[in-house]
Amino acid sequence: MNMALDRPLTLALSKGRIFEETLPLLKAAGIEVAEDPEKSRKLILPTNRPDVRIIIVRASDVPTYVEYGAADLGIAGKDVLIEHAASHPGALYQPIDLGIANCRLCVAVRNGFDYEAAVRQGARLRVATKYVAAAREHFASKGVYVDLIKLYGSMELAPLIGLADAIVDLVSTGNTLKANDLLAVEDIMPISSRLIVNRAALKTRHALLQPVIDAFEAASVKIT
Ligand code: ATP
Ligand code: PRP
Repeated sequence: MNMALDRPLTLALSKGRIFEETLPLLKAAGIEVAEDPEKSRKLILPTNRPDVRIIIVRASDVPTYVEYGAADLGIAGKDVLIEHAASHPGALYQPIDLGIANCRLCVAVRNGFDYEAAVRQGARLRVATKYVAAAREHFASKGVYVDLIKLYGSMELAPLIGLADAIVDLVSTGNTLKANDLLAVEDIMPISSRLIVNRAALKTRHALLQPVIDAFEAASVKIT
């Protein structure tokens, strides 16, 4: 695809926590967003800099927009990046861990389910998750046999209703698990969000891109 080089630098963000936690980093980089995506239905948001704009996409679509060059850069969670890399290895340049949208990827079960015993006995576990690649890697490294069931949300429901023995999901305060009578039994990895950059743009738009990358780096060090 041949993207016009004279278009504004395009940053892909998802609305909600990533957008909100990115605002202070953008501000520190001298970029102010003119509209609030929670209030506006617009998907292309101008900024105070005519050469920089923001596009609003689903969190799991951010790597796709950046890989294909429709956005020059974006911000995505490590969870999303692991799943994307499973089918598109090495497609993205990931220069900076921004230390935002912090949480943990965990294994959780229904209160009362003896996960350790099931693992010890070599039982084949049914695990429901949105994070199939990360879950596969985790259980393979432990030598635990699992049948993975792909879900797109509300994973907490699966063990309650008999769809799965366990889930792999993101945990922050633990309130969602608690509200659904679930228990985290294993920590898989800490999750935070990274700046991702289109590899071709890094060369073709270097003069415009590098100062923005540098500003993100400086701002993330200051803020985190
Ligand atoms: P999609 O819209 O594609 O289904 P999503 O609903 O997971 O994605 P968000 O909820 O906005 O999108 O989450 C964006 C990112 O924030 C996730 O990819 C993850 O890295 C991080 N995240 C998710 N849940 C939490 C949480 N409870 N606390 C902190 N960070 C989180
Ligand atoms: C995420 C995640 C958990 C919840 C954990 O969901 O999928 O359900 O946060 O956070 P807690 O430990 O602080 O309760 P999110 O709030 O993003 O909802 P969504 O994925 O359904 O949009």
